[in-house]
Parts: sequence; C-alpha cells; structure tokens
Amino acid sequence: MVDSYRETYETSLAHPAAFWLGAAAGVDWSTPPRHALDASRAPLYGWFPDGTLNTCYNALDRHVEAGRGSQDALIYDSAMLGTQRRFTYAELTRLVADFAGVLRDRGVGKGDRIVIYMPMIPEAVIAMLASARLGAVHSVVFGGFAPKELAARIRDAQPVLLVTASGGLEPTRRIEYLPAVAEALALAGVPGLPVIAKAREGFAASAADHGWLDWDTEVAGATPAPPVDVAATDPLYILYTSGTTGTPKGVVRDNGGHAVALDWTLRNIYGAGPGDVMWTASDVGWVVGHSYIVYGPLLAGATSVLYEGKPVGTPDAGAFWRVVRDHRVNVLFTAPTALRAIRKADPEAALLRDYDISSLRTLFTAGERLDTDTFHWASMSLGVPVVDHWWQTETGWAICANPRGLEELPIKAGSPSVPMPGFRLAIVDGLGEEVEPGVEGNIVLKLPLPPGTLTTLWGNDERFVSSYLQAFEGCYATGDSGYRDSDGYVFVMGRTDDIINVAGHRLSTGAMEQVIGQHPAVAECAVIGLADPLKGQRPSGYVVLKSGVDVQDDVLAAELVAMVRRDIGAVADFKHVTVVDALPKTRSGKILRKTMRQIADGVEYTVPSTTEDVGVIEQLIGTLRPEIPESGTLQP
Ligand code: COA
Ligand code: AMP
Repeated sequence: MVDSYRETYETSLAHPAAFWLGAAAGVDWSTPPRHALDASRAPLYGWFPDGTLNTCYNALDRHVEAGRGSQDALIYDSAMLGTQRRFTYAELTRLVADFAGVLRDRGVGKGDRIVIYMPMIPEAVIAMLASARLGAVHSVVFGGFAPKELAARIRDAQPVLLVTASGGLEPTRRIEYLPAVAEALALAGVPGLPVIAKAREGFAASAADHGWLDWDTEVAGATPAPPVDVAATDPLYILYTSGTTGTPKGVVRDNGGHAVALDWTLRNIYGAGPGDVMWTASDVGWVVGHSYIVYGPLLAGATSVLYEGKPVGTPDAGAFWRVVRDHRVNVLFTAPTALRAIRKADPEAALLRDYDISSLRTLFTAGERLDTDTFHWASMSLGVPVVDHWWQTETGWAICANPRGLEELPIKAGSPSVPMPGFRLAIVDGLGEEVEPGVEGNIVLKLPLPPGTLTTLWGNDERFVSSYLQAFEGCYATGDSGYRDSDGYVFVMGRTDDIINVAGHRLSTGAMEQVIGQHPAVAECAVIGLADPLKGQRPSGYVVLKSGVDVQDDVLAAELVAMVRRDIGAVADFKHVTVVDALPKTRSGKILRKTMRQIADGVEYTVPSTTEDVGVIEQLIGTLRPEIPESGTLQP
C-alpha cells in the first residue's frame, strides 16, 4: 500500500494515469473512466475524457443512499443574526433538488450559465449545488464587488438567469443587493435577465419591486429535479479572478477532475471524512469557499460550517472559538489576516479560555503567506498543528501543503511545505533554467497540471495560453516567486506581477489604475501594494496631475477613493492617494512599481539599469509611504 507522502508524490508523477484513476474510485460515476488524461489538445489538457457523472449527486444523494441521510451536511452559523441552522444530507438533497426543479422549469439546462450574487446564507450553497445538479455552470460573484464588476462578469459569462438575495450583512451596515443587481444588469445590457431573489428581513427592496421572482414562492411549487449526467470534462463553474489587467479572468473548472481531486484532498491533506466537521472561514465568492465550504467537505461526506460573520467584532475576538466549540469543529481553515485581526484584539488569546475547543485537530491557512509571528502565536495559543498551504483560484486546491491525512511531515514556519501529487514544481530564472536550492525564482508547474485545476479561461483559450503557458516553455507560470530549501520545502515570497493580496482578497492594481486614470485631473498613476501589519498588503495610489490642473490634493484623493469604491467595490479597500511630480519609469516607459514598493516598504531596493531618470526616484523617497495609520479593522 502506498501511504507516505514521498511514495505518493513520486507515484503521482511516475504513473499519473494509474494514480488518478485510483483516486477516481472515490467518486461515483455513471460511466467510470477508463482513460485518465486527454492530451489531444495539448497544451490544453482534460481529465477522465470518457467518464460521466454528476457532481451534485456525488456531493449529496450518494451519501443519503449510503445510509447517512441523517448526518449533518451543512451548519449555517450567523454571528450577524445570532442564529444557527443545521441541514442533514437528506434535507439538503431535497432542498437542492427542489431549487434545481425551479431552475429547470425556468429553462436552465446543461451548459447554461447562472450567475450567483449572494451573501453567506444557505441558499448560496443550495443554488451552486442546484446548478451542478442540472449540469449547468455557475459563476458566483463575491458580494463585496460593485455593480460594474458584476456587470463585467455577466457580460463575459452570458448567463440565462441570476440568483441573488435581498442583501448581505456587514457589522456596521446592510448591503442592499437588489439595486446593485439592477444596475449591473443595465450596465451589462441585459436588463430583462430573469432573476430569482431570496428575501431576507430588514432590507428595503423586494424581488417584486423589480419584477423578479421570489425564491420562496418559486420553491413552494417546485417539482424536484434529478441529477443530470455530464461528461467529466464539462464545466462545473466559472470563477472570475483578478488578472493584471482590468478584465477579470474566468477560471473554468470541470466536473470530473474537480470531484476526484477535492475528494482526494479531504482525506489526504485535511485528514477529514464522514463524521468530521470542517469549517472554512471564507466566503463562497472565493475559490477557498467553492472548494472547502461547498464541494470538498460534501464530496467527502463530511459536515461543513457556513459562517456569516467576521473574526472580530461579531461580537468579539472569541467568535472563531465559539464556532469551533458550538459545532465541534475538527478542521478549521482561515486566512492569516483573520488570525492577525484576532491577535490584535486579543493578544494573549484570553478569550480562548471561555471555550472548549478540544475537538480541533488542525488549523489550515491560505490566501497569503502565513507570517512566522502569526504562525507561532496561533500554534502556541491553540496547541494544534498550524498548517500553511499555498494555492490559487486557478489550481482549485493546494499546490503545496503538509498532507496531514497522508503523513504528518514536520512543519517549518514560513513554508507551505511540499508539492502535492501531480504538481511537478520547479523554480526557474527568467530564462526558464532551474535554480539551485535557496535561490529565489519564478515558481512554475510543468504541464500537465493535475485534475481539479483550471482547464481554460471561459471562452478564451488564447488568453489562457498567453497568460499562463507562454512565459516558460512547457510550464504553467504561477505568477508567484519563491525558493526551495535543501529539504525540498517551498517558500512562497510574493507575486511577480501586479496582483496584490489585501486581507486575503486577491486584487488587481491594474484595475484600480484603470479607474483612477479616468479622472479628468489625472495624467498618469500607479497603484502599488504596501506592506500592512493587519491585512498583509494595502493599496496605495500615486498620481501625477495634468499640467495646469488646479485641485486640492485631499479633494482629489477623496474623489479617487470614491471612484474605486464605486467601480470595483468596498473590498478593494483603496483609501490612500498621494500626488507626486513624476513616476519613475524605464526608458521604454514602464513604471517601476517594484522599486516604488521596495522604497515604500523600507527594504533594500534595486534601480534597474534601464531607468529613465534616477532623479525621479530620489525625489520620491520619503513621499512613497504616506503618513497614514495602519489599516483599520472592525472595532473589537
Ligand atoms: N459585501 C460587501 N462589502 C464587503 C464584503 C461583502 N461580502 N466583505 C467586505 N466588505 C467591505 C467591508 O465592509 C469594508 O468596507 P468599509 O471600507 O466600508 O469598512 C471593506 O469591504 C474592506 O473589507 P475587509 O478588507 O474585509 O476589512 P474589514 O476591516 O471589514 O475586516 C478582516 C478585516 C481581517 C477582519 C477581514 O478582512 C477578514 O475576515 N478577512 C478574511 C478574508 C478571507 O477569509 N478571505 C478568503 C481567502 S481564504
Ligand atoms: P487567490 O487566487 O485569490 O487564491 O490568490 C492566489 C494568490 O494568493 C497566490 O498566487 C499567492 O500569491 C497568494 N497565496 C495564496 N496562498 C498563499 C500561501 N499559503 N502562501 C503565500 N502566498 C499565498
């Protein structure tokens, strides 16, 4: 039997077909696959080309059929409302089948797209699974995005229907979704798109106000829909993520590879299965939520917690420990920024003493690098292994992790440990040559990628190839840089492009620059991510005014902040603008964002030899890091 990490990893690379066909046995197929990899369209690959299945059936019905219908599938815990609700596998299957019936009767079929713009309520999970049940393709859009961003996704995905709710709850305000949806539909040029809205108490607008369908009324008369067979290679969802330009990339996930990979990860990475409770404190709008609030735990027959709340302020920094205690959580997964927020409010973790968290086996983190301070604080406070793991929207599951279910490898602070099966990882220099251990370079993954990773970008194979597969021959470029130590542990140091990570949210500085550049007073601008002790990074904008423009700096700054909030959303957390005389550039006109960031963060900086005017850089020193308080957080 293959059981250690090393043997498993090596087998996955030496015999990928046998390895993944073996893993595919964890999934129930209508037609079991005989072939693992389809390389006929390389460098675009497909997994299990001759297999057919239904992802929703695998996530729900099969557990009921196996006699576990009375086990909890989903626990909804709203710290915002102070309510909890449990759904057994039998109950969730029924609710999903009913909503799938509604969608089917409204004309949604195999391959059709539905956009889901919802807060963290059970109906978001139900809508996703109902889409999967019909073989439709969902695209969930995070609630913190503004109507323009929602519109961009609607334009690209061309849905036949949109599912939403009255709104979301933030600690200090209610976010009304329905006006935002109406605005997005108008912007996308589809004002008549059918919309189903789940009513929540306390919001101003109702579905009827917009002439839309009410979720509860629709479901009341529903005829349940059975699962529809799809090809393993058919798309399950599109999830838009920030690229380096303003246009988001529609990452496409298939059905078969996704189900096989996630089922494998639950047992082998997270060490969880039927009877275990997994709580991923993220949002269904992000990949972490797709994989480990919804699909992963349910595919593996575990119980998943859906938490509507924050780590602090709802009501205090003991919120996470309260949820762990209340639901006997075994595996907790969150972003380092959430731990930093808790630590800031409760440095001694004194609130932990109020809760029995003995059920907790492991804490996993992702979304950004787990800094060593937070790692030590969490390890000491919780007394359980704290496991950083590194992945991306594109990969759908961890590229590097410490696979607790397979083998408890030593944990090294600052490292997400080692590559997972199927990820043939290399660290290369700018020319694609592998570098020595200890030397930082571009982290690339040799093709093909394992099952569950992106198959393409929606409707845009060319952009998929040009964004990821062209920089390094035969490889997928992760866009992250890092190094490997002599034990083979990987250390991920940061992005090589203009993507930043703010409070675990992936954002494009290019998109913010596009918005700022539209202001009539702005000649040119740069947005960079400055190091931030709470949120990891925070965006900071630098603008050069058009000559002859007469505007006060603080007035302009307020206008630019409002524009980014309006066009991208509150989640961009763009709050700081500095007016400068000039931006440093190379002779070919490229703004030296990396040098600016290094100067601002007070780290050693390099001035490229192609710099146009070194004097501009000298002038900027001292003005790059504005005198502003570190980013605020919720009042504990
Ligand atoms: N809908 C609408 N607005 C939202 C939103 C949502 N779903 N989520 C966040 N926002 C808003 C916030 O209200 C805030 O608005 P404000 O500028 O008016 O205050 C803004 O977006 C920035 O939010 P955020 O970055 O979350 O900051 P915060 O101060 O509210 O909270 C943390 C800080 C660290 C507590 C919080 O960011 C957090 O819990 N992060 C974890 C993120 C995570 O799990 N990421 C998933 C990757 S694994
Ligand atoms: P997203 O697609 O939103 O999941 O963001 C992916 C990016 O977040 C990666 O490319 C990394 O830059 C960063 N990231 C995510 N997890 C980690 C981690 N554990 N360590 C370092 N960086 C991470």
